[in-house]
Amino acid sequence: MASLLTATRLEAQTRALRRLIGNTPLLAVHLRHRGRPLTLYAKCEQVNLTGSIKDRMALHTLERAYGAGEIRPGDTIAEATSGNTGISFAAIGRALGHPVKVFMPDWMSEERKDLIRSYGAEVAPVSRQEGGFLGCIRRAEEFAAGRSDVFLPRQFSNQANVEAHAATTGPEIAAQLEERGLRPGAFVAGVGTGGTVMGVGAFLRARFPGVRIHPVEPAESPTLSTGHKNGQHRIQGVSDEFIPPIVDLARLDAVIPISDGDSILMAQKLATQLGLGVGISSGCNFLAALRVCEELGPQAVVVTVFPDDNKKYLSTDLLREEPVRDGYLSPQVELLGLSTLPPSCAFCPRDN
Ligand SMILES: Cc1ncc(COP(=O)(O)O)c(C=O)c1O
Repeated sequence: MASLLTATRLEAQTRALRRLIGNTPLLAVHLRHRGRPLTLYAKCEQVNLTGSIKDRMALHTLERAYGAGEIRPGDTIAEATSGNTGISFAAIGRALGHPVKVFMPDWMSEERKDLIRSYGAEVAPVSRQEGGFLGCIRRAEEFAAGRSDVFLPRQFSNQANVEAHAATTGPEIAAQLEERGLRPGAFVAGVGTGGTVMGVGAFLRARFPGVRIHPVEPAESPTLSTGHKNGQHRIQGVSDEFIPPIVDLARLDAVIPISDGDSILMAQKLATQLGLGVGISSGCNFLAALRVCEELGPQAVVVTVFPDDNKKYLSTDLLREEPVRDGYLSPQVELLGLSTLPPSCAFCPRDN
C-alpha cells in the first residue's frame, strides 16, 4: 500500500520529477544515403527518467488530473498499455504515492513486465484470447467501474497526452532548431497512442506553417492506412489494434509505412556504430525521416524522436541476426557521426 503524501510533499516530488523528464538533447545524425550526405534530427527521449518519451505524458496527465481534482492522494492509477506507459505511470505514480495497476498484452517482452513490477506496480497480463489490446482497455474500465478511488489516465483518448507534447516536446524542438538558425521541414513519428505526432505536430504547424507532419506505421501490419488492424509486427509501442481517438488523420500528412525488419536493422546500426542504444521504434522513425528527407531534398530539416532505449528488447529480435530483404533502406545508410543540440534554457524546468 502506498503511503499518502502531504500536499507540500506532493508538490516537491512533482517538481523533482519535472527536472528528470523532458529537456532532452536533439541529435543531429550525419549519414550518407546512396552516396549523398544528409543530416536527420532526433530527440533523445531515451534519457528521460524511465528511459522513454512516455514519462512526459504520464507526468503531464497526473499534473492535469490533480489540477482538475480528478485524482486524489492514494488513488490507484490503472492503465492499459503495451509497456512504456505502464513503466512511466509505475515510476511516477509510485513516486507520488499511488498504487499502480497495469493491464498489458501478455506477448510483450518480459523486460517490460519486470520493469513495471520493479517499481512496485502490479501487472495484469491479458492474452489474445481475452481480447488482446482492446481487452486490456476493457479490463481497466471494468476495474474502475463503480469505484471512486481509481484514476484511469486513458492515454488513447485523453487530450492531456497530446498537450504533453504540444507543451514540451514540440517547443523544445523548435527552440533547439531555432538556436541554430534551422527551420523544420517535416516531423515524423510512429503512432502508438498518437500523442507524440499530434502534440508535436500541432505545435510545429502553428509555429512553422507548411511543416509536414507524418505518422508512421509498420508496413507488415497497417492500421492507420486501412482503418483496422491487419497482421502482426515487431515494433513494440506502435500500431495497436485500432486508430486511437486522439489521432486526427485529417490534420496529418501521408502515413509512412516502414518494415519491422528494416527498423530492427537500423536500430542495430545506431547502437553498434554510434553508441545509440535505442529501441526498434527508433529505427523505424529514423527510416521514416530518411524517406521524407529523400522526398524534400538533402537540405531539408527532418525531425523525429527516439522514443526509448534498447534495454526492454534484450530478449527480442533486436539482439538477433536480422535478414536483409529487398527494398530495405537501412543497408544503404552509412552512418558518419553525431552532433548534439543541447536542451534550450528557454525550457529549463520551472521551479514553481
Ligand atoms: C517504444 C515506443 N515507440 C513509440 C511510441 C508511440 O508514441 P505515442 O503513443 O505518443 O504515439 C510508443 C508509445 O508507447 C512507444 O512505447
